[in-house]
Amino acid sequence: MFTIEKLTALEILDSRGRPTVRTTCQLKSGSAGSASVPSGASTGKAEALELRDGDPRRYRGLGCRRAVRTVNETLHRALAGRSFASQQALDQAMIGLDATPNKSALGANAILAVSLAFSRAAANQAGQPLYLHFAGLLGETRRALPRPTINLFSGGKHAGGQSPLQDILLVPASAKTMDEALSATFAVYQCAVELAARKYGMRALVADEGGLAPPFPHAQAMLDDAVEAIQRAGFVPGKDVALAVDAASSHFFSRGRYQLGEESLDSAGMIDRLEEWVVRYPIVSLEDGLSEDDWDHWPKLRERLAGRCLVVGDDLLCTNPNRIRRAVETRAADTLLLKVNQIGTLTEAMEACRLARAARWSVTISARSGETEDDWLADLAVGWRGDQIKIGSIMRSERLSKYNRLLAIEAETEWPLVDWP
Ligand code: PGA
Ligand code: ZN
Repeated sequence: MFTIEKLTALEILDSRGRPTVRTTCQLKSGSAGSASVPSGASTGKAEALELRDGDPRRYRGLGCRRAVRTVNETLHRALAGRSFASQQALDQAMIGLDATPNKSALGANAILAVSLAFSRAAANQAGQPLYLHFAGLLGETRRALPRPTINLFSGGKHAGGQSPLQDILLVPASAKTMDEALSATFAVYQCAVELAARKYGMRALVADEGGLAPPFPHAQAMLDDAVEAIQRAGFVPGKDVALAVDAASSHFFSRGRYQLGEESLDSAGMIDRLEEWVVRYPIVSLEDGLSEDDWDHWPKLRERLAGRCLVVGDDLLCTNPNRIRRAVETRAADTLLLKVNQIGTLTEAMEACRLARAARWSVTISARSGETEDDWLADLAVGWRGDQIKIGSIMRSERLSKYNRLLAIEAETEWPLVDWP
């Protein structure tokens, strides 16, 4: 049993300098836990609502004082003094208090901050590392570390829209340990820094997730440059280091057409283009290749890429069990991108993860572009045995806090990296 004594929240700033929520959950037992919630920029339409103040005179309306008040007053009053047998019991109580389909009454940021802070407090009360506590919640008994997919080049909403594709990521495919994965990434990243200077006269300035964002002449140049950086670092593309792409194509899709730079493609044309890239480049994972609204064409994309490349749904699925069920039924994807704040509680994210596993999908546990120095994501990805983890680049401390936590967990457990699915 976990008895909540006190819930307190604070407005803090995320990696873009925008407000977000940190909450502390104090239990009667004396144990406590704090957690901070992240925030996206390239968000899906079906995400749970992040409650913002809307006061244009303060943080351009992005303040989180209302969410903080919701924790300090509404949720504290409703939950303090009550005992919960499990994470599920607490989350269900908050879902009931909110009583909206998208958490718009209390705010997914307020609810998730409490959900996560409670999980840390509960792990502390049980004297367990957070990753083992998370594994226990899900009933996950397989022990391994997720394979990182690491941002190299950025475009889209994370880089001022200089290129339509949002992320080109490195997949350290042959690495056996987190240490090997990160050192290989460092080598490629440094070659990409040199390449960006030589080709584009660009200093090593980075985008929201720490990726390099030179002015690529067209989308495909991001892929060519990534392969060149892998080769210059002395690796064999596709064997030692492969590529993952997050096209985030909902954000260049309108009225049935994909605006890929100068080109305007219909869905069939977009699928052809994506397949062409998968044949030509060592791409092993493709996220949001089609738009969140293009349900009719996703099954065709999955069929075309089957066995060659993971078909990952982010904006399409929004970690939402209803959307995942639809995608499983229609065979629209084969990998869940799991972002807890898209749905707003650990319990619902667990349901999303279970649905994906039951369909024999793989699962990528993902950060957001607006992050904090909190590192719970690393524990979550290990505990839920994510096949992959997507944190961003190996630059910027809000990303490194998670990589460094993974290194610490690796040192503690000596668990191997999950093989590529
Ligand atoms: P976001 O994007 O965190 O800005 O929404 C990340 C992603 O699209 O994977
Ligand atoms: Zn995405």
